[in-house]
Amino acid sequence: MKRIMLAAGGVLLVCGLAQGAGLRDLAQKRGFLIGGAMRLYPETLADPQYLPTFAREFNVVVPEHVMKFRDTQPKENVYDFRKADFLVKFAEDHGMKVRGHTLVWHEAVPDWVEAYKGSSETLREILKDHITTEVGYFKGRILAWDVVNEAVAKDGSLAPDAGPWPRIDQGRALGGYIADAFRWAHAADPKALLFYNDWGAEQLGAKSDGVYALLKRLRAQGVPVDGVGFQAHIDYDEPVSEDSLRANFKRFSDLGLIIHITEMDFGIPDKLRSDPKALAKQADVYRLFLKVCLETPRCQAFLTWGLTDKYSWIDEGGEDTAPLLLDKDYRPKPAYAAVKALLRRP
Ligand code: G3I
Repeated sequence: MKRIMLAAGGVLLVCGLAQGAGLRDLAQKRGFLIGGAMRLYPETLADPQYLPTFAREFNVVVPEHVMKFRDTQPKENVYDFRKADFLVKFAEDHGMKVRGHTLVWHEAVPDWVEAYKGSSETLREILKDHITTEVGYFKGRILAWDVVNEAVAKDGSLAPDAGPWPRIDQGRALGGYIADAFRWAHAADPKALLFYNDWGAEQLGAKSDGVYALLKRLRAQGVPVDGVGFQAHIDYDEPVSEDSLRANFKRFSDLGLIIHITEMDFGIPDKLRSDPKALAKQADVYRLFLKVCLETPRCQAFLTWGLTDKYSWIDEGGEDTAPLLLDKDYRPKPAYAAVKALLRRP
């Protein structure tokens, strides 16, 4: 892996910036961030198009895996930042910002934490040490951290079963661990922007009401929360209302929060993945989200959860849902053209 990463990094410096204009050139002109999640697997690093295309198209990158708890502290007090180091150096070598993802999430918890049955006080120390160590290690090099990910349930309540972390609040109001996490991250890197990140909160509804109430409460308590990440994993048949999207973005912006669209993808059912109408619908949804973002004060970044249909988490089960802007051969799709046209608009 290390040899592949070194080789890939080298090739990149030659090819990455040599190619034609990508989305990043247009975004840069507007002081806007366009990016995606990077997957550091042997197959992506060995793919001659993968890293150069990232450098051409994006000015912000987020790790799909390598900064998660399971990847950075696989064993207690044993940290491994080698893959995250590669990603951050890649970004710095190519003038890109980095979103750190993610410090507190129930789905990327290492086995030793899952198995932990000790006191809530000790569990709190484990999380504090993790956040302080990881954020401190990258101090000054991360634009924004997804400090807490997916801690609000669909009905807007704080999820009591968000992995081990809510156990920290035994004997106190649920949510204390969330405030703690933001305070610890801020202490470790006062310059990093600190985000709460979630799915299904893009439009008005019970979940976004819950996220809004949480962030409003945290900010009223003086907790250093700078932004909200709307993941925007949009299902093919999910109703998307421009009015609802716009009103929801506005209320978070009016709170003074920065907004990032952090993980957008739009899966197309296998049988329709080459259907022009399905691809046009995909383009419409990407266009709508970007348009509302560009028209909302403090909406500053638009990231997709991957670069090319060739590598998407949605298809890890063997599906082929063509969810991203570039097809499996890195060719721009109608959604790419829609995004590019919007970024080009004055
Ligand atoms: O690293 C192990 C490997 O050793 C093992 O052989 C393999 C087979 O079991 O699993 C590998 O771990 C996988 C990991 O990705 C790294 O590849 C996990 O099983 C798999 O569940 C994990 O999925 C990732 C998931 O987050 C959980 O971390 C997805 O690829 C990733 O796209 C997804 O991303 C999340 C965001 O972080 C948060 N928002 C939702 C989004 C989609 O679920």
